Amino acid sequence: MIDIINQFNIEGEIKSYEIFGIGHINDTYKLITTTDQEYLFQKINHNVFKDVSGMMKNIQRVTNYLPSAFDRLGISSQETLRLIQTHHKENYFHHKTGYFRMFDFKSHLKSRDVPESEDQIFEGAKSYGFFLKALSDFNPFNLIVTIADFHNLDYRIRNYEKVKLKIKNLKSHPAEKQMALVKSLSQQLLPIWSLDAQSLVQKRVTHNDTKFNNVLLDEMSKGCCVIDLDTVMPGIVHYDFGDGIRSTCCTAAEDELDLQCVSLDRNRFLAFKEGYLEGAKDELSATDIEFLPLSGAYMAFIMGLRFLTDFMEGNRYYKINYPNHNLDRCKNQFKLSYDILDQLNDLK
Ligand SMILES: Nc1ncnc2c1ncn2[C@@H]1O[C@H](COP(=O)(O)OP(=O)(O)O)[C@@H](O)[C@H]1O
Ligand SMILES: [Mg+2]
Repeated sequence: MIDIINQFNIEGEIKSYEIFGIGHINDTYKLITTTDQEYLFQKINHNVFKDVSGMMKNIQRVTNYLPSAFDRLGISSQETLRLIQTHHKENYFHHKTGYFRMFDFKSHLKSRDVPESEDQIFEGAKSYGFFLKALSDFNPFNLIVTIADFHNLDYRIRNYEKVKLKIKNLKSHPAEKQMALVKSLSQQLLPIWSLDAQSLVQKRVTHNDTKFNNVLLDEMSKGCCVIDLDTVMPGIVHYDFGDGIRSTCCTAAEDELDLQCVSLDRNRFLAFKEGYLEGAKDELSATDIEFLPLSGAYMAFIMGLRFLTDFMEGNRYYKINYPNHNLDRCKNQFKLSYDILDQLNDLK
């Protein structure tokens, strides 16, 4: 580890490093040096991110661009991640044990896994809104599509069908009930798919993983820095808004078993919506806005379908704590998707 850390252009010498945070994808460490500089050091999850070089180029481009965009727009509250280069002027280091990168550590800010108040939801959503707005003049096609069809419903369905074909006895399959929901649910969500597939709304730089813990907040719980830029790619606003709603505004955790507890919390939705629109102000078209509520149901369905497909395939992608974990997550996300559809008129 010390050899790897020393590949990077850090100030001072290594004093200590320890595992940090509760990220679920990469291995994250906090590094302190003899000059009391702090860095965030990560081993990138290469199983999830196949194109590390493309991903790191995207992060470099976006983090180079954002500070001046925030300045130009007079957005002084928002900070940007800063990559530390290696001595060879690369933005990551490829070692035989994996891929590594380093950022400045934002010691005055922190993320929370679960929001503690609607104010925090407002602030987190506002940061994501500012992020979208500040990148509105950045050509999304200057970014590399590192995970093709990430939020493409048609692709996710085709993938699911492929896996389903391999199952011999569908009738007695434990996911039989969930499989029976896929067709009708997906048809109700096609309007969001069409927005992207038929270019009915602007293609933008989107974050694509807008969970609450991917924003750092300050001590006053103000949203200050969007992090975890591993999936920045061309997309539509509905992927960011929808994933935010799905992950931040649900009344229960993603694997809650009691489906009666799983619904979209109206007040949290309002807080998220207010915050997001304040950040992205004047940036969204009438069509963008019209489909924001439905985007939550779309993203919950996409997640549910990915959990279902992984369950049917033998749990290869998502880490599980017990055999039916992915099936339970699927039930939960499908329930959330239905609940958003039920509340749609009100949310609109
Ligand atoms: N630059 C940073 N400064 C301080 N904390 C950070 C920074 N970047 C990430 N973190 C913390 O580390 C956690 C994991 O980082 P993240 O990039 O989100 O990894 P993962 O992809 O595993 O979620 C975050 O939730 C946050 O708490
Ligand atoms: Mg994260």
